[in-house]
Amino acid sequence: MKQQINFIQIEKDNAAHFEMASKLWVPFIEEVNEHDGTYKTKEQIADGLKKRISIQGRRKDMHFEIACVNGEPFGIAMFAIDLGTVYGLLEKGYGTIMGFYIHPKFRRRGLGTLFSKHIEAILYSDGARKMYICPDSVTGEPFWQSNGYVDSGKIDPDDKKPIYIKEIAEQIDFTNCEMIPLTQDTALEISQWEYEKPYDVYNFKGHPNDWLMDESTWGTEQFCLIERTTILGQVACQLDEKDLWVGWSMAPQFCGKGNGGNFVNRCVKELREFTGHTGRILLRVAASNQRAIRAYEKAGFSYVETIQDEIAYTNHIEDFWVMELL
Ligand SMILES: CC(C)(COP(=O)(O)OP(=O)(O)OC[C@H]1O[C@@H](n2cnc3c(N)ncnc32)[C@H](O)[C@@H]1OP(=O)(O)O)[C@@H](O)C(=O)NCCC(=O)NCCS
Repeated sequence: MKQQINFIQIEKDNAAHFEMASKLWVPFIEEVNEHDGTYKTKEQIADGLKKRISIQGRRKDMHFEIACVNGEPFGIAMFAIDLGTVYGLLEKGYGTIMGFYIHPKFRRRGLGTLFSKHIEAILYSDGARKMYICPDSVTGEPFWQSNGYVDSGKIDPDDKKPIYIKEIAEQIDFTNCEMIPLTQDTALEISQWEYEKPYDVYNFKGHPNDWLMDESTWGTEQFCLIERTTILGQVACQLDEKDLWVGWSMAPQFCGKGNGGNFVNRCVKELREFTGHTGRILLRVAASNQRAIRAYEKAGFSYVETIQDEIAYTNHIEDFWVMELL
């Protein structure tokens, strides 16, 4: 079953929201207190939660959300633009996460990462360009490090925890996108894509698009990644004995903004789900296209060999890297 994610903003005076939030917030505080060697009763924790909920709605950039997968709550987080400056240690305007918890039953499935990306996208749209967090020392630190947060070397004087920071850029929210067969409309839209130099060799516009427009490949070899009505990328695959060869292009307006690694991960996940292929995935990339190579490496691809071939639609012979994902 495909996982459908949604987020609920906790409203004050909403008993159902309080009930749902308590089931996550109480075990959250109990777990981090155990890591810190401190203790609070369930009643004290519930009082703290009530106080946090009571201030919801005061500011547009203050959020307290429950995350659900297929309707079942799996995580909770409180996050906002920080108006203070952590005692002068940071400049104003950082986005910060004051509480973040994934229920143990849902851990190590990438849901924490997905929730954190959603939070970063919201705080980015609230104006934040940097994030900070004072992570839990046991589960928090490895998690935030794996999501690009680095130790600033500064310590929060209140809870004596290290302050981790990260720069954020405009992100595509991949949460609920899906891969669907190409259609007449989507193929036509993709056939108009143009990229900035030096990536204009990948333009669809002005190049022969015979394969793209070949209906017999739509839904078997050619797809698009789509979020409601926005096409995020064009995706293609061909099975060659045991290997699945893949190719894709992100829509031009999303390129160059740090979305590449997430885009590639999502395409791989969708292609594996669609084809049921569990073996090796191979791709070919121009050796000069370091931007794409970096995104592939981030997604776990590694170099296999260099081959020479004609670059699409030109007479130039170029070096290409073959990269594999096992
Ligand atoms: C920290 C927490 C939110 C992680 O949630 P999650 O959904 O399991 O996280 P993800 O699956 O997205 O993990 C992404 C990566 O983070 C790292 N990571 C996450 N939890 C880890 C752990 N316990 N030990 C080591 N690395 C961990 C891994 O690199 C992981 O990737 P992998 O599973 O491919 O190895 C969850 O463990 C939790 O709620 N812990 C208790 C409360 C807490 O610490 N909150 C953070 C407060 S600052």
